[in-house]
Amino acid sequence: MNTRSIRFRMTASYSLLSATTLTIFGVALYQFLSIIFFNYVDADLRKQAEVIKRFIRIEDDQIRLEYDKNNPEEATMADSYTDYMRVIDRYGRVINQSTGLVMMGDEFRADHLPDRLQAPRTGFRTVTARNHEKIRFIETVIYDSSHIPYLLQIGFPLRPTEQALRGFMWAGIVLIPVTVAIAFTGGWLMANRMLKPVSHITQTAQQISASNLALRIPVRGINDELDQLAATFNDMIARLESGFERIRQFSSNVSHELRTPLTIIQGETEVALMSDGANADFRRVLESNLEEIDRMSHMINDLLTLARADAGELDLNLQPLELESFLTDLLSQVQLIALEKEISITLDSSGPITTRGDALQIRRVMLNLIDNALKYTPPFGKIRIALSSDERWGRISLLDTGRGIPYESLPYIFDRFYRVDQSRSREVAGTGLGLSIVKSIVDAHGGRIDVKSRLGIGTEFILRFPLEKTAEETSPVSF
Ligand SMILES: Nc1ncnc2c1ncn2[C@@H]1O[C@H](COP(=O)(O)OP(=O)(O)OP(=O)(O)O)[C@@H](O)[C@H]1O
Ligand SMILES: [Mg+2]
Repeated sequence: MNTRSIRFRMTASYSLLSATTLTIFGVALYQFLSIIFFNYVDADLRKQAEVIKRFIRIEDDQIRLEYDKNNPEEATMADSYTDYMRVIDRYGRVINQSTGLVMMGDEFRADHLPDRLQAPRTGFRTVTARNHEKIRFIETVIYDSSHIPYLLQIGFPLRPTEQALRGFMWAGIVLIPVTVAIAFTGGWLMANRMLKPVSHITQTAQQISASNLALRIPVRGINDELDQLAATFNDMIARLESGFERIRQFSSNVSHELRTPLTIIQGETEVALMSDGANADFRRVLESNLEEIDRMSHMINDLLTLARADAGELDLNLQPLELESFLTDLLSQVQLIALEKEISITLDSSGPITTRGDALQIRRVMLNLIDNALKYTPPFGKIRIALSSDERWGRISLLDTGRGIPYESLPYIFDRFYRVDQSRSREVAGTGLGLSIVKSIVDAHGGRIDVKSRLGIGTEFILRFPLEKTAEETSPVSF
């Protein structure tokens, strides 16, 4: 999970927001409920005290409840309201205490007495009994027949109320994380769905290169922000495509137009050289011109090939091509040049391998690579061509013991006009187009080219061409 992705950040902020809102809501609700509960307890205690005050009679520290025994309502009240009752005289002595309080282990504390009896008014007090349970008391002053004050306490055990609140709190503690987890999952799925078009845009953009500018991002037709982005992006690619097309057309036209005058100059120079009239200086100039013309027409031919390859117009005549005999033939032709440079060329082959290819173009590839190997390998070096295959590819490796290519130059050697070390390159003729042509041809075959090199040790180019499918592979199988 990429924590920096918009998807994650959106989901995380959404979940954080739900967690915060739910917590605030939960805490507020808890507070609100406890206020309601305690208000209810106090109101109930007040009512109980009123009733008991009406029933209670004290004489000589003796307590009596006077009520109508035939009235069931009064009887129930007198019975249940006295469950947690206590009466204390003005010296702090408990003169009556119900069993409920005794059982809870609650004892009267003397410091609760004086202020109540001196300024008689009703008040509330929450006390923790010895069994750790809390009791809420209402405290009010009553008088006996001779007008002596006593303190009346009526209690209400808070345990059920507190239990209900605690239950509510635990429900929140468990339910809030569960809800947030559900919100996170839901948010994640939603963000996934919303951002899917963005992945499409990214994928398409990754696939687009100068050679496949025809690709477009699918527009869903709902005209939302992402559709607008895709449409803008598509417009941009369309503009790029037409720009590229114009450049391609231009270089193709220029190369084409330059070819004719160059051929004419070349022909005329050759004729002039053949005539007897030219003196030695004149000849030298003409010969040097001829070399340059040769270089230029090579370059123009290469540029034309590249322009055609870019436009997908490199018409390949794809045929089954058996590489072992093809390479043996080719080697016999270049052997002489290699001998002149005192470089040995050998071919290692594991047997005949048939690929699908255009013999002329693959020949061009091999000649370019061999030309490089010969150019950049010093005398007495070695060039080894090895042929092998796996289930998909026919593989040609071309290994030389030349000067090698610096590691940082490797990504660029297939670029047009790129030559390692421009200044030193002057010594060795070349334009830097050879390898770009090689790559275009290999690509057009659906093949691959890789390079490995170590400076001062040598270079290996590895070519892979798709194998020709045998009859069994291509014909449909019927049972
Ligand atoms: N076998 C090799 N050993 C060392 N360096 C090489 C080898 N092959 C290519 N290079 C380097 O890669 C560069 C590009 O090669 P490429 O064939 O494209 O151009 P070139 O040989 O200089 O010119 P061209 O092939 O157009 O005549 C070369 O200039 C050279 O520096
Ligand atoms: Mg070259």
